[in-house]
Formats: sequence, C-alpha cells, structure tokens
Amino acid sequence: MTLIAPSILSADFGNLQRDVEMINNSAADWFHVDIMDGVFVPNISFGFPVMKAVQKHAKKPMDVHLMIADADKYVKTFKENGAQVLTVHYEACTHLHRTLQSIRAEGMKAGVAVNPHTSISLLENVIHDADLFLVMSVNPGFGGQKFIPNTYLKVRQLRRMLDETGSKALIEVDGGVDLTNFRQLAEAGADVLVAGNAVFGAKDPVQTIAELKS
Ligand code: DX5
Ligand code: ZN
Repeated sequence: MTLIAPSILSADFGNLQRDVEMINNSAADWFHVDIMDGVFVPNISFGFPVMKAVQKHAKKPMDVHLMIADADKYVKTFKENGAQVLTVHYEACTHLHRTLQSIRAEGMKAGVAVNPHTSISLLENVIHDADLFLVMSVNPGFGGQKFIPNTYLKVRQLRRMLDETGSKALIEVDGGVDLTNFRQLAEAGADVLVAGNAVFGAKDPVQTIAELKS
C-alpha cells in the first residue's frame, strides 16, 4: 500500500501543533519536512527550531527532504532533530556516495532526490547505497506547483532499475501530487507520495489523506 507523506511546508505555521496533530490523527504515514536554503533552490523554508517543534508533537516518522547546498555539514544535527529518513539532492552533492554512507552511519534511512531534468540512469552507481529515491515532479523550491507528466516515465524507469538490481529502496514522488494523479503514480511504481497543497488546501484534509491512501 502507498505511503502518504503530507508536506509541512503547506501547513499553517501559526497553528503548527494543530496541523501536526491533524496528521497524527489521519491515515498519513510520514511527515514530509522540506528544508530550503536559498542557495540550492530559490526559496528559504525553515530550519531546526521548526523541525524541533514538529518533532515534539509528531507521532509518525519525519521524512526530511534537504534542498540545501552543503548537506554533509548538518547530517548529525538533522538526526538530533528527529529525522528518520534524510534525503539529499543528486545535483547538490559532489561526493554523493560518501554523503549517503554518513547518513546511514547516523542510523537514518538515506534518500537521493532527482530534479525533473536529471536522468534516472545517473542513479545506477548508488542504487544499493540508498533506501529511498525521490523523483521530483516539480522543480524544487515551492509548494503548490503543477505536476510534470514526464514523472510517470521516470518512475517506471526507476521501478525497472530497482527490480533488475534487486534493490528494496522505496520510490517517493514529490510535487503537485493530488487526487487526479495519485493512482497513476502508484501504478507506475511509486511507494511514497508527498502531498502539500492537495492536503492542506483541501476543505477536509483528513478525508483527502484517506482518499490518497485508498
Ligand atoms: C517542493 C517540495 C515539496 C512541496 C510539495 O520543493 O519539495 O515537498 O512541499 O508541495 P505540493 O504538494 O503543494 O506540490
Ligand atoms: Zn519535498
């Protein structure tokens, strides 16, 4: 069954505890936490104090998506702030293999994210070094953007690569996921779906999560 990871980026930060508890009491599986530094992506989201506040109330794992230039520097601190899955960008890591090893050494699941322009074939040499691969279905930096349909093809390619190599890594899709495309993504082979605007912009977020999960 597909895992659903609502993105905190679209939460109401003035009522963060309320929104975290809404996720706790829903069918959602993970909290998706987007960290943006204004360097790798043209936006700044939030940092450790906000993560700590989420951690304090969250009863589900924190899936942390780093959109930052220098991830290596902060691996340990993300662990201390509650990350259970830590995903870095292929495009932002010069020594990706080493970064993935250091994430696993801290006892976290290691993830690799790829931008819409990045070919799935480039993941070949780290296929056994990651526990999760995140296929970006928008250009990272903002919530509420339009889903890029080429993602279906990339998810199918990645599914094939994982099956062929015997990797048990999960496929996560992030950006513009909603009730119109979630079924097709699951059919293509996605294991985890991130949803920001589709959940927090909905009239009934708990019901929307249940539908995404169905
Ligand atoms: C975009 C972030 C996403 C974003 C998803 O850079 O990585 O996680 O919050 O939000 P929606 O679902 O609104 O596209
Ligand atoms: Zn994200």
